[in-house]
Amino acid sequence: MLGFLGGTGPEGRGLALRLALGGESVMVGSRESARAEEAMTRIMARAPVTGVKAATNDDVARECEVVFITLPYEAQLGVLPALAGALSGKVVVSTVAPLRFHDNVFEAITVPEGSAAMQAHRLLPRSLVVAAFQNISAIDLWSPNRKLDGDVVVCSDHAEAKAQVMALARKIPALGSIDGGGLANARYVEELTALLLNINHIYKGRGMIRITGIKTD
Ligand SMILES: NC(=O)c1ccc[n+]([C@@H]2O[C@H](COP(=O)([O-])OP(=O)(O)OC[C@H]3O[C@@H](n4cnc5c(N)ncnc54)[C@H](OP(=O)(O)O)[C@@H]3O)[C@@H](O)[C@H]2O)c1
Repeated sequence: MLGFLGGTGPEGRGLALRLALGGESVMVGSRESARAEEAMTRIMARAPVTGVKAATNDDVARECEVVFITLPYEAQLGVLPALAGALSGKVVVSTVAPLRFHDNVFEAITVPEGSAAMQAHRLLPRSLVVAAFQNISAIDLWSPNRKLDGDVVVCSDHAEAKAQVMALARKIPALGSIDGGGLANARYVEELTALLLNINHIYKGRGMIRITGIKTD
């Protein structure tokens, strides 16, 4: 079962939808059960998927084998420490890209640990933290017919956990997954999101990142 902390937001709902379409069982988490139920209903109304559950963030951390952080960067310091025990030994996927929109430009927020993913690693020292999906737009995820013609760059210090998340990304049609090396590289992927959003703002488009020129299979 895949779980989503803060899965009621656009990114968590979108990822849950796409991975449910890929045949995975998913559990949408929230601070409030009612909000999780509402998100579950929206996912099931969006496409013919089964295996979608709703729960609190605490239940997600306890019951799921792979848990996605789909919370705002500003929220993870408040949410993750209480879940460290339940998430011990589990794969935790940081999708977080710390950004702000200022003077008509997207800017990366400086994180003391170097990246949101490294902060998650500090807060969850016994979890297998993987960073992925920071560049994948919630709007694109929420449109099941939209071809996701891009790559997810996956960073982690745990080879098996990284391979597991790369395989999950490939369940989304057209999306590729690239080994981005260790978790220390997550900062570059997170910051790339700011560049991508600025480019999309300039071109009024929905471009994605695609790595070319390497053999991935
Ligand atoms: N949106 C995108 O296109 C996109 C793309 C790539 C990556 N991301 C990353 O994905 C993450 C989620 O993005 P989003 O746009 O879905 O975020 P969001 O809508 O702002 O927040 C997601 C959920 O987090 C919970 N939350 C919000 N503030 C909280 C707080 N102070 N404490 C605890 N929980 C809180 C809320 O759930 P409840 O109220 O139900 O608890 C909310 O529905 C972000 O880190 C973002 O950088 C987003």
